[in-house]
Amino acid sequence: MVVIILLKLYDMKKMIFLIFVAMNGFCLNAQDPSGTPPQTPGARPQQAKDLLIPLRTNNISLVYRVNGRDGRLYQAYLGAALDNTDILAQTRDAGHPAYATFGTDNLFEPAVRATHNDGNPSLELNYVSHEIENIRPDVNLTRIYLKDPAYPFIVTLFTKTYATEDVIEQWTEIKHDEKKPVTIFNYASSMLHFDAEKYWLTQFHGDWAEEMKMTESELTAGIKILDTKLGTRAHMYQTPVFMLSLDEKADEENGKVLAGTLGWSGNFRFLFEVDEKGSLRIISGINPFASEYSLDPGKVFRTPSMIFTYSDKGMGQTSRNLHHWAMKYGILDGTGTRYTLLNNWEATGFNFDEKKLTSILDDTKKMRLDVFLLDDGWFANKYPRNNDRAGLGDWQENRAKLPDGLGYLVKEADARGVKFGIWIEPEMVNPKSELYETHPDWILKLPNRPEHYFRNQLVLDLTNPKVQDFVYNVVDGMLTVNPGIAFIKWDCNRMMTNAYSPFLKDKQSHLYIDYVNSLYGILGKLRQKYPHLPVMLCSGGGGRVDYGALKYFTEFWASDNTDGLERIYIQWGYSYFFPAIAVCNHVTSWGKQSLKFRTDVAMMGKMGYDIEVDKMTDNELKFSQDAVRNYNRIKDIIYTGDLYRLVSPYKENRAVLMYVNRDKTRAVLFGYTLNSRYGETMNKVRLRGLDPLKTYKIQEINVSNEGRRGPGMGFGMTENGRTYTGNYLMNVGLNVGTGSPLSSTVYEITE
Ligand code: DGJ
Repeated sequence: MVVIILLKLYDMKKMIFLIFVAMNGFCLNAQDPSGTPPQTPGARPQQAKDLLIPLRTNNISLVYRVNGRDGRLYQAYLGAALDNTDILAQTRDAGHPAYATFGTDNLFEPAVRATHNDGNPSLELNYVSHEIENIRPDVNLTRIYLKDPAYPFIVTLFTKTYATEDVIEQWTEIKHDEKKPVTIFNYASSMLHFDAEKYWLTQFHGDWAEEMKMTESELTAGIKILDTKLGTRAHMYQTPVFMLSLDEKADEENGKVLAGTLGWSGNFRFLFEVDEKGSLRIISGINPFASEYSLDPGKVFRTPSMIFTYSDKGMGQTSRNLHHWAMKYGILDGTGTRYTLLNNWEATGFNFDEKKLTSILDDTKKMRLDVFLLDDGWFANKYPRNNDRAGLGDWQENRAKLPDGLGYLVKEADARGVKFGIWIEPEMVNPKSELYETHPDWILKLPNRPEHYFRNQLVLDLTNPKVQDFVYNVVDGMLTVNPGIAFIKWDCNRMMTNAYSPFLKDKQSHLYIDYVNSLYGILGKLRQKYPHLPVMLCSGGGGRVDYGALKYFTEFWASDNTDGLERIYIQWGYSYFFPAIAVCNHVTSWGKQSLKFRTDVAMMGKMGYDIEVDKMTDNELKFSQDAVRNYNRIKDIIYTGDLYRLVSPYKENRAVLMYVNRDKTRAVLFGYTLNSRYGETMNKVRLRGLDPLKTYKIQEINVSNEGRRGPGMGFGMTENGRTYTGNYLMNVGLNVGTGSPLSSTVYEITE
């Protein structure tokens, strides 16, 4: 039976009447159909029928149940889309707690834990009401209101369903109206449950220059945690992403997979707990470690977004879902285009002057790149930034290196028809700086302990509004004086150690959380004034990569490791969660592979260069100019196309990937031979994502002008010039790769 219930939201200043449809005629409290929570401490809702709250994307169902017997909210189902959820209403098993509390009867890890203002350490949450708001034709936002029956403590669960992309975003808001502050100890963004035969978790971990290494392991009874406690540069060892295969190990095309990522640029935690019955709960959110939060009455504590997708068609589909979502909703200007860059960090380090930079502007033009990006070393005078031991925090042009200021470089760039970009690291300070001397109280450092440095620097206390203004003004001041600056690289080169905030005083356990929210505040304010300026997110390589930050950034620096071979693995890892348009790949002189190999690898994303162009041979220069031209022709396929990972470098001596545009008329395939053994055969690779009925022409591009036997070309058979149907390419395949280690092939595939 379909019943329409009129709800009055008790928690709103104005009365808002909402209509929602409850499939089972659920009524929480017979006396109060408004859903107003009982006000008498300890009062229980009367026995009522269960209420199902079914949420959907095109291919995923997430169903919550309000259990009529106890008034609590449960997850009744999460998985492939259900045509009909009625059957769930008939089962007696309520499901798993949707947002488990601590202190009463929960025996496992809670999603939320609090001590009330009277010292009561227990929390109960009962369903109050819910509402579903249609935000766009294919996006719904569901708010489920929960309340402690004995205390004015309220949790709102938010679930945003993106039907077309098959992505779900969840977060929560916690607030109370108790007389004094309440301490919250756990505050998950999302709690999900599965009941499967087995669980296979893939994590993505590493260190500086070895980001996103993939490791898959089986979850067994007990708890497995993926987390970070680094504060800033928080994802240096562990990126806030995971994949989970259910029942059996999944591959690219087969298997049930959940892919999740937390949009939070600080300490995160994913907790996987398998209980005695083999059920799995996944609790995702800010890492509660050393971060109990004292919440004032009336204040809202909002948790970051947990973003996830599910597919029963393997990992490839979950990646494409996340890519589609990210381009539309997750990354600043995710459907726009991107600049190609020439960066000077690898080529010059700190050692440059105006003349050198002007010559690099010439190189930018010669290479037909869009932007010259001036990296670290351009600022500070009392303690010049000539190495990483001094000057950080003093954001005035260094007069010896840049006597005519940044304005001169902007003008010179303009005269050459290229754009000018600049590096900053505004959250940090060297002890050898004027900023340190003038504002020692703006720095995170422990009293009674020695300062502890990493890359000779300390972190500024972003929780302090004066420091927030300083950071904002560093960026805004520079852009106001030099409105021609067209690109920024925002770096962050250390984690927090010996950290203590002079501003937070007795609330030190707020530091990790308040730091990130303050950073977002600054970025948000900058984005109001500069909504579309391209900014690269960097953190000593890929030390801070997440969708919390990417709302403010157009792209990210994946790693300082630009060795072509290493990059295949690093980029492969990122590709599970982040679309190619956001991943900055530069051709540098790291790695022993040919220029062609390194160029081909850099093309699988947002290509740039960080290389001494003036040291290139004529052949290398010509090859690179042609490659940039090729890239500009095909980059829309790489940016917005669908990614198919065809051969994994973790499984074979090859890596093969392809991108296909949405109407399946154009594709690009990248193939790499990483190594080869005596007698090893390289099987044909079956392509994916094409239209079987279309006929495609294969054209090999980025062919080294040293001929097919030039460095990195190998001795394989080229498919150049051949024509095949999509049906043939997807069922029989193409020859990709040669017997020659570290060789590569790029095919442009056109209908
Ligand atoms: C770390 C970044 O990852 C590098 O690309 C470079 O910008 C240096 N910092 C500069 O200090």
